[in-house]
Amino acid sequence: MLARALCPPYATMRGGWKCCSRLVLVGQFVWLQLVMAASCTDPLQHPAPAKSEEWVTERVNQLKEKISGLFEACTTIAEQLKLVDTLQHLSIDHHFDKQILATLSRIHGTEFNSSCLHEVALRFRLLRQQGFCVSPDEFNRFKDENRNFHLDITNDARGLLSLYNAAYLFTHGEAELEEAILFAREHLESMRNNLEHPLAQQVNRALHLPLPRTLRRVEALHYISEYKGEPTHNSSLLEFAKLDFNLLQRLHLKELKALSRWWKDLYNEEVLTYSRDRVVECYLWSYTAYYEKEYSRARMILAKLIAVIILTDDTYDVRATLEECRKFNEVIQRWDESATSLLTDYLKKLYLKLMNIFKEFEDDLKPKEKYRVAFSRKAFQAL
Ligand SMILES: *[C@@H]1O[C@H](CO)[C@@H](O)[C@H](O)[C@H]1NC(C)=O
Ligand SMILES: *[C@@H]1O[C@H](CO)[C@@H](O)[C@H](O)[C@H]1NC(C)=O
Repeated sequence: MLARALCPPYATMRGGWKCCSRLVLVGQFVWLQLVMAASCTDPLQHPAPAKSEEWVTERVNQLKEKISGLFEACTTIAEQLKLVDTLQHLSIDHHFDKQILATLSRIHGTEFNSSCLHEVALRFRLLRQQGFCVSPDEFNRFKDENRNFHLDITNDARGLLSLYNAAYLFTHGEAELEEAILFAREHLESMRNNLEHPLAQQVNRALHLPLPRTLRRVEALHYISEYKGEPTHNSSLLEFAKLDFNLLQRLHLKELKALSRWWKDLYNEEVLTYSRDRVVECYLWSYTAYYEKEYSRARMILAKLIAVIILTDDTYDVRATLEECRKFNEVIQRWDESATSLLTDYLKKLYLKLMNIFKEFEDDLKPKEKYRVAFSRKAFQAL
């Protein structure tokens, strides 16, 4: 079924997601949400659906070079912040990691006395997200002597939205940021029905789930469809974001196909059907952690690990007797094929499969990386 769900080469996004929606039949709730999120927005209809992968890759490289030049072209801090934010929001920042880090370091070291709430909040969010120290005192310039926010910012929807999203990066004990959230939420709620597209959509989404807590790829799909409506949008960035999303999606679907074959082998052949059949969800977890092309191997290993953990968990919870659990735990700790004599048939099969899976992880890694599998095995044994 998953094989059939693979999109034809260069399907338009609508067609592509329609294909994907067959995945729903697999019964994967989370994936369903992702697919729904995507099909509602339908942003990525590319004008030339017949383009080959080579053509797209070539075009992506051209655009990437052009876009790299934008870092130089942005002279003010406000412009630089906006560029970094746009790249991140369109989920194409992974192509410009070094430049983004350099830009943010520079911004962190420069005094910024803007009186625009949106810019100050954006600076706060981008820096803190990247791990730089920024104090919530940055927002004091928008407060009076009683530490209340000035009333004149209550009409500034974009500024309030940025403040709201930034304040969600609060850490323990930062009560002023929690107050900022309440303040911004109250005013955003009162104006949410009178805003223009695309700000209205962004405010509604953020009130439902603030930006730092969203699933990035889903949020990117929304933003890609809205980006054209931004007053200062750049069509090169938009084209790049669409092409890159489609290229990565092809890879993700290929991985999902391979993963589901792997899972079928494990799940159907054996008497393991007591376990949850949720391999797509496992993939989604791992895709949420890493979606970039270069992390394909890590993505697959993590998805398999999650699947194996669920399988083992279900074995303990719903299938094995207490005695079997004890034995199973014992042999897991020993990690030795000869230990299987202690186990009943189905556990023996499961155990050998598990050992085999970890062996496969090891085979996937380069010689100098193999030691890492021992760590994941130890972590697994500890569970
Ligand atoms: C859009 O970005 C390209 C580079 O990707 C740049 O050459 C062009 O000047 C930008 N256009 C605007 C309107 O900023
Ligand atoms: C911000 O700083 C610049 C120089 O660093 C100065 O020219 C400008 O007047 C300052 N703006 C405000 C609002 O303080």
